[in-house]
Amino acid sequence: MPVTVHEKTGIFHLHNDKVSYVMMVLPNGEMGQLYYGSCIHDREDFSHLLELGHRDMAPVVFDTEGEDGRVRWGSTTFSLEHIRQEYPSYGTGDMRQPAFEILQENGSRLSHLEYCGYRTFEGKEKLPGLPATYTEDNSEAQTLVLELEDKASGARLELHYTIYQDLPVITRHAVWINKSAAGITLVLSRAMSLNLDLPDSDYDMIDLAGASLRERYVDRHALHAGVQSIGSMRGHSSHQFNPFVALARTGTDEVSGEVIGLSLVYSGNFLVQAEVDTMGVTRLMIGIHPQSFAWPLKAGESFCTPEAVLVYSDEGLGGMSRTFHKLFRNRLARGYWRDRERPIVINNWEATYMKFDEAKILEIAAEAKKLGVEMFVLDDGWFGHRDDDSTSLGDWYPDLKKLPGGIAELSEKVEALGMKFGLWIEPEMVSPESDLYRAHPEWVLGSDERHICQGRHQLELDLSKSEVTDHLYETLEKLIAGARISYIKWDMNRSISDAFSRGNDALFQETVLHRQILGVYRLYERLTESFPEILFESCASGGGRFDPGMLYYAPQAWTSDDTDAAERVKIQYGTSLVYPLSSMSNHVSAVPNHQTYRSVSMFTRGAVAAWGSFGYELDATHLTEEEQEEVKAQIGFIQRWRGYLQKGEFYRLLSPFDGNETGWMVVAPDKKSGLVLAYRDRQPVNAGYRRMKLQGLDPDLAYKVREADHKTWEWLNLENGARASERQPLAHYGDELMKIGLLLSDAACGVRTSQVTQEDAQARIFLVEAV
Ligand code: DGJ
Repeated sequence: MPVTVHEKTGIFHLHNDKVSYVMMVLPNGEMGQLYYGSCIHDREDFSHLLELGHRDMAPVVFDTEGEDGRVRWGSTTFSLEHIRQEYPSYGTGDMRQPAFEILQENGSRLSHLEYCGYRTFEGKEKLPGLPATYTEDNSEAQTLVLELEDKASGARLELHYTIYQDLPVITRHAVWINKSAAGITLVLSRAMSLNLDLPDSDYDMIDLAGASLRERYVDRHALHAGVQSIGSMRGHSSHQFNPFVALARTGTDEVSGEVIGLSLVYSGNFLVQAEVDTMGVTRLMIGIHPQSFAWPLKAGESFCTPEAVLVYSDEGLGGMSRTFHKLFRNRLARGYWRDRERPIVINNWEATYMKFDEAKILEIAAEAKKLGVEMFVLDDGWFGHRDDDSTSLGDWYPDLKKLPGGIAELSEKVEALGMKFGLWIEPEMVSPESDLYRAHPEWVLGSDERHICQGRHQLELDLSKSEVTDHLYETLEKLIAGARISYIKWDMNRSISDAFSRGNDALFQETVLHRQILGVYRLYERLTESFPEILFESCASGGGRFDPGMLYYAPQAWTSDDTDAAERVKIQYGTSLVYPLSSMSNHVSAVPNHQTYRSVSMFTRGAVAAWGSFGYELDATHLTEEEQEEVKAQIGFIQRWRGYLQKGEFYRLLSPFDGNETGWMVVAPDKKSGLVLAYRDRQPVNAGYRRMKLQGLDPDLAYKVREADHKTWEWLNLENGARASERQPLAHYGDELMKIGLLLSDAACGVRTSQVTQEDAQARIFLVEAV
């Protein structure tokens, strides 16, 4: 059983064949953390792992010796300041950052959470109003709930732990309940989803940092004394940081070393924090950012934190990522599209921006259809009077000057071409210049007495108000039901400021940012329930809300507004630390690229975009005949390989953050084949030989390696890195490909002698197949 409880010793052991997590009821009744890591034998008693020692100045909890004979409590040794805990408080001896804080009526923030019971059950429960990982069958996981109470205030806490049977994954969340008999209101001013105290600090902290157009770059640095944190206070998970952190043992790489990965299934403000104390103990926590957060709990009310996902790997960062991928692809993403191959789309944003009419749209769609594209997506600019971004958000009715027959007729016409039709919306926003704002100025976030910031000329609707989400649901339901819509791109183009909800009282105001996200989730839930076969893609000005919370509703997300393949390799590489290929939406766009003005070959653009949900972001009527042929070949390739790429195991081979080259590959579950990307940013001159070590293959199987032709995308035989299309290729054992590597360079030092296309931003795709 993955959850073992030793009642006599107060030990709780979550374990499977990969991981162990051990806790105990401490002598003062609080919960202590004893071990988290690679699986160990179970035993009745682990209390010898509790480290106690006298330290001057430390506030001690006991002044008498224990009597149970198991642990000799020195009179001054039991100080919470030096004990590893499950969910620590502040003010009763622990001087480090707390996992929670409860403001009580008398102004006290002191608390003492005592263990009072537990329950276990098979499977995993849903979180109320929040996205979360799930099980399809109760045998996949087991859940332990620890019950604790703060007798003086009446606060009750339930710590929920689910351990998956076949994955090194433990999920956690906390539920607070006000059990006050006196009927007093408690205010939770901090409520983390997870706290994990680790015995040492020999770790590198790895997070994903960036900005719009360069999201999720890998950021790695050694832990140091004190608090180090990342987070978002922008009302969405953000371009700047992602709700993810890994602690990797010093020296850990893609294939070896111990890693603890932590992710928050949440799309709003978050905090990830590692605190290294003077004893070298690391306190790691993740949850809703406490800035501008406070949740009043009346007697009888409860509050559930978002879910934290803890992944353990002793196979380096690659092992951690593959666990996240499996879990998020199969047990976080849901619905009709979860396991289905995603359509190849063409989106008109970079083709026309907001300047289009029906004829232009149909012209692009018809041309794209000839090339093999399967779906047309109409982006921003189709509604109200939206000729630029200063107007019309909220007015979700078609601009009949551009589209005389509306969305209904356009979608019919696109379907008549033999394609599916998709539509862009941005439901959370309103333009001051819109009918909706004129009718309901009180529906936006912000206070009447103050200036309200605009972002991209838009205001944020107050989704803490159910009348607002009801209005949005009814409007969008009518729009979608009234046309032939197969896909929705749900955008969100500004960070939230002025988080004030008109007409609500003071205590309500600090709940607004969390309620805003709950409102987004509620709207997503209702729309995805009403239209289960529509493919939803989330988007936030590119990748500004690429997080696990969104994945629960939309199985794919627009990875970045930067469509330059040379930039995308970095963005996709960083994103792959946590998120599966199936969640990354990537498009081939025109050159020169609209974000970087760089021109890279059509092959490279397709070869980089191929690793995810594929599409085009260009005017298909502007392609030359040669480009049209290349696009047809790309589409044929994607149609053959997209299912394989979606479900295979992903391995990172070379990091764009370490040098000129990027490499990654997908291996089939049976290890009989692999598809490899090798990308080189700058063309070297007369350089040395370069090999790239593959991963994930069967060392004992012999494989032949072929390379995709840059025009036809057909496989060419390879021999020693060079083309050998006339001959049978050599076979290589898996161990050779993994230990010696695939030769990437050829002996050429110039176009005259090289057999490989030579260029900056050069991508190559290889197929490795067991003979
Ligand atoms: C930002 C998105 O990331 C783009 O793809 C596009 O949809 C624009 N918004 C439209 O305003």
